[in-house]
Amino acid sequence: MGKLAVISDLHADINQFNEELYLIRDYLEKLNVTHVHFAGDVANKVAKTLEVVNFFDQKIPTTFHWGNHEMADIDVESDFEDFNDPHFLNFKTQELTKSTVLFGMNGWYDYSFVPHADEKEYRRKKQVYWYDRFIERQGSDPEITAALCYRLQETLSTVPDTKNIILSTHFVPKETFIIKHSEKYARWNQLNAFLGSKEFGEVLDGFSNVKQVVFGHTHHRFTEQKLQQTMYHCRPFGYYYEWFLTRSFILTNHLAETFNPLKARTIVKRYPQAFNEYKKRYILNELQQGMVLLDY
Ligand SMILES: [Fe+2]
Ligand SMILES: [Fe+2]
Repeated sequence: MGKLAVISDLHADINQFNEELYLIRDYLEKLNVTHVHFAGDVANKVAKTLEVVNFFDQKIPTTFHWGNHEMADIDVESDFEDFNDPHFLNFKTQELTKSTVLFGMNGWYDYSFVPHADEKEYRRKKQVYWYDRFIERQGSDPEITAALCYRLQETLSTVPDTKNIILSTHFVPKETFIIKHSEKYARWNQLNAFLGSKEFGEVLDGFSNVKQVVFGHTHHRFTEQKLQQTMYHCRPFGYYYEWFLTRSFILTNHLAETFNPLKARTIVKRYPQAFNEYKKRYILNELQQGMVLLDY
């Protein structure tokens, strides 16, 4: 028996992690975690991501795949899906036990979470509103996703069906985890186009040995859900200004009447030292909510 920790959206640079990385690693060791997997958005830079991965790997075997944030720092096409690093787990399996493997896949999106999305229009919206405008890769988003779904189908078929699969990806594979806003917030729904793909989920439905799927990217934590034969987990770590600990820092210190993540950055910036102390004190509470632990 072992214990897998999957952490998505650590954002070690934006969250200004230094000592916190030691606190997190020590904590995972104390929990007897036997394998750590980072499900993308570890940092904005590839070098920083590798530094974090290697830091964890010094104490606990660690693997990772990309999120969209690292991809903005990639300029060689083959590095998106076939990056040459022993810890990189994309369309590959890592044996956890004789009967269970961890399968990693970055994933991507095809606008399928927006009904009747016009491809051209959404390509343009992406260039205007979305971080991923900095990512330069070959093919349109639906073409990339279709190719990845094909590769997913092919690669999963090579895993014997006697082996249980825990699958990690960055992007959303099921519409259940897409939040639909209404009325004055309805325009936010357009951004759902860039969150993931229904087709990924459909491919997964065809493999009854995919027992657990873990993903992130949404920066919204959901309760786990069983869909078909598979348990889906989405508990990303997220940005510091979205955290529960930041909410309680602001509210318990009466720095605002209500918590608004869009304003939290400015408020926290006014009290850098106090917030830093608070962050170190409660970071592990945040981590408990912002990671997925699976026994295997
Ligand atoms: Fe993220
Ligand atoms: Fe992301």
